Amino acid sequence: MKNTIAAILALCAFAGSGTALAQQPIVIKFSHVVAAYTPKGKTAEFFKNLVEERTKGAVKVEVYHNSVLYKDKEELEALQLGAVQMLAPTPGKFGPLGVREFEVLDLPFLFDNIEQEHKVTQGAIGRQMLNKLETKGITGLAFWDNGFKQMTANRPLRKPEDFKGLKMRIQSSKVIDAQMRALGALPQVMGFGEVYQALQTGVVDGQENPTSNIYPSKLHEVQKYLTMSDHGYHGYAVIVNKKFWDGLAAPLRATLEQAMVEATAHFNILAKQDNDEALQSIIASGKTQVITLTPEERKAWKKVLMKVHTEMADKIGKDLIQSIYRETGFDPAKL
Ligand code: LMR
Repeated sequence: MKNTIAAILALCAFAGSGTALAQQPIVIKFSHVVAAYTPKGKTAEFFKNLVEERTKGAVKVEVYHNSVLYKDKEELEALQLGAVQMLAPTPGKFGPLGVREFEVLDLPFLFDNIEQEHKVTQGAIGRQMLNKLETKGITGLAFWDNGFKQMTANRPLRKPEDFKGLKMRIQSSKVIDAQMRALGALPQVMGFGEVYQALQTGVVDGQENPTSNIYPSKLHEVQKYLTMSDHGYHGYAVIVNKKFWDGLAAPLRATLEQAMVEATAHFNILAKQDNDEALQSIIASGKTQVITLTPEERKAWKKVLMKVHTEMADKIGKDLIQSIYRETGFDPAKL
């Protein structure tokens, strides 16, 4: 009997010493809703490889593409519960969390180019936005800027009036809802994983996304027209469960933070190239007609859509909008 108790105590001491635990890697489940062969999917794998190499296997990153682990509606709650450790949702998906400020990035024609996007998201304003997530049990690590969204539908979209009556799929963003209504369309919130079938069956008539999402998910195969409108920002807030992140040993967390810095730089270079290549692949497929707006047509879109900035100011925060205008030199009067 004495030997048995001694053996159990020895086993507990061994386990308690953490030696046994040291054999078990810390697992980061990284879930997202688009295809593996997208800037987000590829950069998640890039981050995985960096982390596993730099921590010598002490941390294992499991990447789950294409909503296989969690869909749009579930992923943020799963993160808050700690069922998944890392996500990279678009800013338009933080509204249901009560963080409406993120929808400022959904304002149509807020940015003229990707450099202006970087100035905001990679600078003080982006950092302040990410810090707002702390009260929700979430740590914001970075923004990954994926350029601009384009419009697709089964009728050519050249003028604002072409949207009239179209059922347009949108993310769960009040700003994008207001954008579609300003165009005379009927917005329908839907998870990204359901979009292909909804377009194929006519549940919705169109949607908006960057070409680097459209092509890998074959949305161009069920849409007759793609308008290269560059009408809105597309990108991601890379986030982790705060309790998990704060619980990491400081040196390990520092290694992961550095890996995220390098992954962000990787994404922001990859995105432009991937969007351009995806556009060429869409054209080569011959499945959809690509429309480029004339300067006059683009001006007509801006004229209709600028009212969304004022309409949503109270919901998002006037100061935040003004700070972005100042940072990019944006002047609504000049449109
Ligand atoms: C969407 O339309 O929901 C996508 O943009 C999602 C994503 O993660 O890019």
